[in-house]
Amino acid sequence: MPSLAESPHTFILNDQNVTVSAADDEPLLYVLRDQLNLPGTRFGCGLNQCGACRVLIDGRPASACDTPMWSVVGHAVVTIEGLNASPTARRLQDAFEAQQAGQCGACLSGIIVTLTGAIDSGVAHDERSIRSVLDAHLCRCGSHARIVSAALDAIANASATKLTHAQP
Ligand code: FES
Ligand code: FES
Repeated sequence: MPSLAESPHTFILNDQNVTVSAADDEPLLYVLRDQLNLPGTRFGCGLNQCGACRVLIDGRPASACDTPMWSVVGHAVVTIEGLNASPTARRLQDAFEAQQAGQCGACLSGIIVTLTGAIDSGVAHDERSIRSVLDAHLCRCGSHARIVSAALDAIANASATKLTHAQP
């Protein structure tokens, strides 16, 4: 039986300490969108089955619709809005645009959050590993092939940038 009583919940959101009043069982997704005015985290299925609501918690992708508030207390949450300064997220966005990987866009913020975390941690580095980390994401527009291709481009662009900077 979900708890309806609200209490303060303090966590780190996009590098800032925040405290919100919420029920212990309230999904993080509702707090982000309804209380904290962060609509970039999307509501898709609400059942941890589509990946549209992915955020990073302590650097790992998690579905905000399936994350109760009690579980984020004291942890670091990053939403798509918190990735504004991330070079990896920027490369991904550029590659998605170049390849027209986004159609309606409903799935994209969750996908970019997951890919950013996976690329930065070294988990996603080739086609196979990209497909593996995107396994939890649905794209109803059928852009999967372009999304994988754009992710590969973003990784290649990062490697090219590193090589350029390494030149004497
Ligand atoms: S809305 Fe969270 S996984 Fe679909
Ligand atoms: S671009 Fe429409 S759901 Fe993925």
